Amino acid sequence: EHQKYIRNFSIVAHIDHGKSTLADRILELTDTVSKRDMKDQLLDNMELERERGITIKLNAVELTYHSQDGHDYELHLIDTPGHVDFSYEVSRSLAACEGAVLVVDAAQGVEAQTLANVYLALDDDLEIVPVINKIDLPSADPEKVKQEIEDVIGIDAEDAVLASAKKGIGIEDLLEQIVHKIPAPDGELRKPLKALVFDSVYDDYRGVVLSVRLFEGTVKPGDKIRLMNSGSEYEVTEVGVNSPSPVKRDYLMSGDVGYITASIKDITQTRVGDTVTNANDQADEALPGYREMNPMVYAGLYPTDNAKFDDLREALEKLKLNDAALEFEPEASQALGFGFRCGFLGLLHMDVVQERLEREFNLDLITTAPSVTYRVNMADGSVKTVDNPADMPDVSAMKSIEEPYVKASIMVPNDYVGAVMELCQHRRGEFDTMEYLDEYRVNVIYYMPLSEIIFDFFDKLKSSTKGYASLDYELAGYRPSDLVKIDILLNSDKVDALSFIAHRQFAADRGREITSKLKTIIPRQNFEIPVQAAIGSKIVARTNIKAYRKDVTAKIHTGDPDRRAKLLDKQKRGKKRMKSVGKVEIPQQAFMAVLQTG
Ligand code: GTP
Repeated sequence: EHQKYIRNFSIVAHIDHGKSTLADRILELTDTVSKRDMKDQLLDNMELERERGITIKLNAVELTYHSQDGHDYELHLIDTPGHVDFSYEVSRSLAACEGAVLVVDAAQGVEAQTLANVYLALDDDLEIVPVINKIDLPSADPEKVKQEIEDVIGIDAEDAVLASAKKGIGIEDLLEQIVHKIPAPDGELRKPLKALVFDSVYDDYRGVVLSVRLFEGTVKPGDKIRLMNSGSEYEVTEVGVNSPSPVKRDYLMSGDVGYITASIKDITQTRVGDTVTNANDQADEALPGYREMNPMVYAGLYPTDNAKFDDLREALEKLKLNDAALEFEPEASQALGFGFRCGFLGLLHMDVVQERLEREFNLDLITTAPSVTYRVNMADGSVKTVDNPADMPDVSAMKSIEEPYVKASIMVPNDYVGAVMELCQHRRGEFDTMEYLDEYRVNVIYYMPLSEIIFDFFDKLKSSTKGYASLDYELAGYRPSDLVKIDILLNSDKVDALSFIAHRQFAADRGREITSKLKTIIPRQNFEIPVQAAIGSKIVARTNIKAYRKDVTAKIHTGDPDRRAKLLDKQKRGKKRMKSVGKVEIPQQAFMAVLQTG
C-alpha cells in the first residue's frame, strides 16, 4: 500500500541540457528545500562540482509531491552526471529506478550522450518521460525536437513536457507525468531483505554509509545484515533518507531509496553493486550487480613528498568506495619513487580524482602522462599488456604492438562535416559511415585509436565546429599499429615517467614538440640542462635549457615586505607540485606536455 505512492526516477541528459537546474526546480516546487536554503545546483554538493558546473557523483534525494489527484507521493530522485567519462555512474543510478526523465535541450536537440544515456535506460526497461527544456531560448524549436526524439530514439514524444528549468515553466506538468507514467515499485515486504548498494561513501564518524534501493523486505536499526557478494555481516546502526540532508528513519521498506550505516570500518568489504540481505534469513539470490567498468586510461600518481606514500594508499582506498570505477596498484619509478598506477575512465575522471585526493585528503601529487593499455606480441609467442610506456619491452623482444580502437559517433550540423572528417583523418581515424538524422544534422562514425581520442580530441572537435559537435564512443577491440616508444632525457638521464608511445610516422615530430615544450616548462637552474628525445638509442630531438644568470631571489629582498611575502608564498606553492629528479626540478605540467598535440 505504501509502495503505491512511491516513484523512483533518474534524470538523464546530454551535458549542459539542464538536468541539474531542473532538479533544483523540482526540489523547490516540492518544498524539499526552503527558498532560503536554495542555492543553484543543490545536488552538486561536491565543491569541485560547483566550481566546474558539472555533476560528477550521483546524488539521491527524497521529496514529497502533492499531486492533483489528491495523493501525496514520495519521490526518490537520483541525479546522474552527463559527461561521457561518467556514464558508469549513470548505469548505477538507473538500476535503482523504475523510470527516467529524459531532458533534451530545445535548441540543441538530441545529442550523442542523450542517445547513449537513454539507451542505458531502455536496456533497463525503464519508463521514459521526455522533457524538452530551455523553451525560453529564442532559438528553441520544441516541435522539431519532438520529431527528432521520435525519429532518432524511437520513443513517443507527443506528450513531451515543454519546460524551462531556468524560468520554472513546466515543472508541475513534469511532476504529474512522473507520478502517472512511471510505475510504482513492486516487491514484497514479507520476503527477506534484498537491497542494491548503488553508492557508498566513507564517513569518519559513522563508517561506511551505503546508498541502497530496497527491492524486497525491510531494514531497521538493530537488524543483522549480510553483504551477499563479500560475505561480511554487520549490525545496522542507522537507516534514513537524504532530503537532501540525511534524515533518520525508523525503517526502510521495499521500494525505498535511502542509506544504511552499520559501523562498517573495513572499506574493502563494501562494493557498489553488492546486495544487502538479512544475515539470518537470506534472499535466495543476489541482485544482478553492475557491469564491471574497465578503465580507459592509466597514469601514475606520486606524492611529491615520498613519505606520504601510505597516506596516498589510504586516500585511494577511501576514494574508491565513492568511485568504484577507480583502479590502482603500487608502482615504482626511478624518477619519481613510489606511487600508484591508477586506471581511469577518461581524462576528466583522472582530473577529478587528482583534485579530490588533494582537497579531501590534503595530499600534494604529481600525475604522470596518461596512457592507454597496449597489447604486445612478444617474439617468444607470449602476449604482454602494457599500460605504462616505461614498461614497454625492448624492440628486439617484440613482434608487434596492438592498440585499443574505439567506434566514435560524432553528431554535427552538416556544415561542419568537412572539418570533423579532417580532424578524424589527422588523428588516424578510419571512416565508417555517415547518417543523416534530419535534413541538416549528421551522425558521422569513425574507427579511431583510443589514444588519439582521450587526450585533447574533444576540445579540438568543439573548437573546429563552433561547439556544435557532440561525441560518444565505445571500445571496438585491438588493432596492430606501428608504434614506438619515445624516451626523454634530462641532463643525459632518462626520465622514465616522461616516456610515451607514438605512431612511428609522427614520432620524431612529437619528440621535437615535446622537447621544446619542456624547455619552456622546466625552470632554469644554475647549470645548462640538455633535453633530448630518443627512440631506442637514436636521439631524434635536442634542445637546451640555459642556466640562469642572475640570482632571481636577490630581487625579493629589495622589495617591500608585503610583496616579498607574496613572492615567497608563490614560490612555495609552485614548489608543491614539483618533483626533483636528479638535480633537475620537474613541475607537474611537464608530465602533461605529451598530451598537447599539434
Ligand atoms: P551537468 O550537471 O554538467 O551534466 O549539466 P546539466 O545537464 O545538469 O546542466 P545544468 O543544469 O548545469 O545547466 C546547464 C546550463 O544551462 C546552465 O548554464 C543553466 O543555467 C542553463 N539552463 C538550464 N535550464 C535552462 C533553461 O530552461 N533555459 C535556459 N535559457 N537556460 C537553462
